[in-house]
Amino acid sequence: MTQWYKEDLAFIHDVGFSDYALKSAPGILEILHRSKIGEGLVVDLGCGSGLLTQELAKADYRVLGVDISESMIAIARQRVPDAEFRVESLFKVDIPTCNAVTSIGECLNYLFDADNTHLELFDRIYSALIPGGVFIFDIAEPGQVTPGNSTKGFIEGENWIVLVEKEEDREQRTLNRRIITFRKLGEHYRRDDELHRLRLYKSTDIAEDLRQVGFCVEKMRSYGQFHLPKAHTAFVARKPR
Ligand SMILES: C[S@@+](CC[C@H](N)C(=O)[O-])C[C@H]1O[C@@H](n2cnc3c(N)ncnc32)[C@H](O)[C@@H]1O
Repeated sequence: MTQWYKEDLAFIHDVGFSDYALKSAPGILEILHRSKIGEGLVVDLGCGSGLLTQELAKADYRVLGVDISESMIAIARQRVPDAEFRVESLFKVDIPTCNAVTSIGECLNYLFDADNTHLELFDRIYSALIPGGVFIFDIAEPGQVTPGNSTKGFIEGENWIVLVEKEEDREQRTLNRRIITFRKLGEHYRRDDELHRLRLYKSTDIAEDLRQVGFCVEKMRSYGQFHLPKAHTAFVARKPR
């Protein structure tokens, strides 16, 4: 059992934070359409609870969803029974030959694996994609939190509340999120705690790394009509035909 996105945070992310994936989905489908990828396999890295996976499956793509969290994958399997899912790190999973790879919601930033190297991942994705295939993803950059300050906030839904403290280390280019969840089960609220560490990347560095492995790169501040939050950039990385 991994220590991140455990049962309660996976549930809360699914019911309370679905907007990011659902509002990105039309823009992502449009990019696939523009890229003349009308069918075939899409690998969704960091698929979470399968929200984008479901939209891709509805559009008749075959989908392989990969996530490190067993609880996220358990929800995804229920949501999209026809898709294939694997509980594995996106930095280690074998990526089959595919038409497109997606990774939505800053999945590449997480430091859940000690040895995650995005350059090696970019290389493996490039090799897996067919000529003309695309890699669509977004990253978190430095600048979400003023240096030296931490921000504290909460979001509540029906029978749950999540408290988040964020702190950014500009020198190390890391973001720590301390997350406390309370979820009502029966008469009582159950508390759980998680700490998420993220490495923050400059979009110019990521674009350079993508070009280094052979991709043609487009940077965006939105997926279609959905504008990304502050200090986030999305990319369409195309493997030339
Ligand atoms: C913010 S959530 C986004 C989930 C989903 N893409 C969405 O938009 O709803 C980030 C996801 O990345 C997953 N994740 C983070 N690091 C990962 C890794 N190394 N391998 C696989 N999944 C990872 C987390 O478990 C989580 O489900």
